Amino acid sequence: MTNTANPITREATVPCRVNLIGEWIDFNGGIVLPMTLQPSVTVQVASNGSSVDRIKSPGFAVCPDFAVDAPAEDHWSDYVRGALQYARNRNWIENGQDVSVESGIPAGAGLSSSAAIIVATLKATSAGFADIDGDALAFAAKEIENNFIGVPCGIMDQMAVALGEPGKVLALDTSDCTYFLLDLPETWTVVVVHSGIRRSLSDGRYRVRRNECLESAAALGVDYLCSASLQSTDTLVEPLLKRARHAISEAKRSRSAIEALRTADRSGFGRIMNESHASLRDDMEVSVPGIDDLVADAIGLGADGARITGAGFGGCIVALVDPDRLESWWNALKLRHPSIERVA
Ligand code: GLA
Repeated sequence: MTNTANPITREATVPCRVNLIGEWIDFNGGIVLPMTLQPSVTVQVASNGSSVDRIKSPGFAVCPDFAVDAPAEDHWSDYVRGALQYARNRNWIENGQDVSVESGIPAGAGLSSSAAIIVATLKATSAGFADIDGDALAFAAKEIENNFIGVPCGIMDQMAVALGEPGKVLALDTSDCTYFLLDLPETWTVVVVHSGIRRSLSDGRYRVRRNECLESAAALGVDYLCSASLQSTDTLVEPLLKRARHAISEAKRSRSAIEALRTADRSGFGRIMNESHASLRDDMEVSVPGIDDLVADAIGLGADGARITGAGFGGCIVALVDPDRLESWWNALKLRHPSIERVA
């Protein structure tokens, strides 16, 4: 299959995603509303005929050579190597690979840099060999993240980066993985702001929150926490009660957000984002004070809505802003928080 004297380089580019609403419910059977945005990641792959993978990226520390079957070891290259091993197991590629990664997506910012790297590597390795569609790529990427990397994430990020289209919002029902795309109204500006506070999903807090949700669902006798009723949560004790309250109310907010998108009700959508942030802060307990201040100022300075996005504990906020007020809003926010960066 490979000609190592003159190896073919295959390349794929995948964007990042921002989640507009439906946070921490993609393993609870809720509807999530992510959309893809620039920046993106580009992965180039070429067979090197050896038994090691050689991976490099200008954005990351120098990577040692790894045997083609080496396990994950909490290294940035794990995401690439997990995908290479998946591709080798399916005979999409043979032998070791030379891989180059160029990423403009900040890591640990809640924008799915890991899902984007995995999906881009899978796309590059499958090009020309495998008849694989977006859903299948997303399921493969989730399997790699869950089993090779060891992060028990849901399916939102992989589906978002594999299926998203510019200017469209993906409405994904995570109880059965059905989805449809909605237009983002032209007069809406989605702004993503990096707080400068980084976190890692593999630091254990993600797993703890997820397990609390699964425990709540089991205690309530439902398959998915989002399908329980708020009244039924009376029997739960803390912190399970709070987690259930978040998941059930967030699922309801997602459904209302779809209506707000369909009717181009920007202020209504903004209100829902603000409620989501309060719930993530008080009930899911995944925000941090620096982010709460940033969200409060973003709203106070005139955004229709703002909230922490992604897994939380730092990273980015997403805000909905009137395009006519965008520049003055951003200047005022930057003045109060000089270390923030606008990502999109
Ligand atoms: C991370 C996970 C997703 C999802 C979000 C929170 O991005 O990878 O599966 O759970 O956190 O909404």
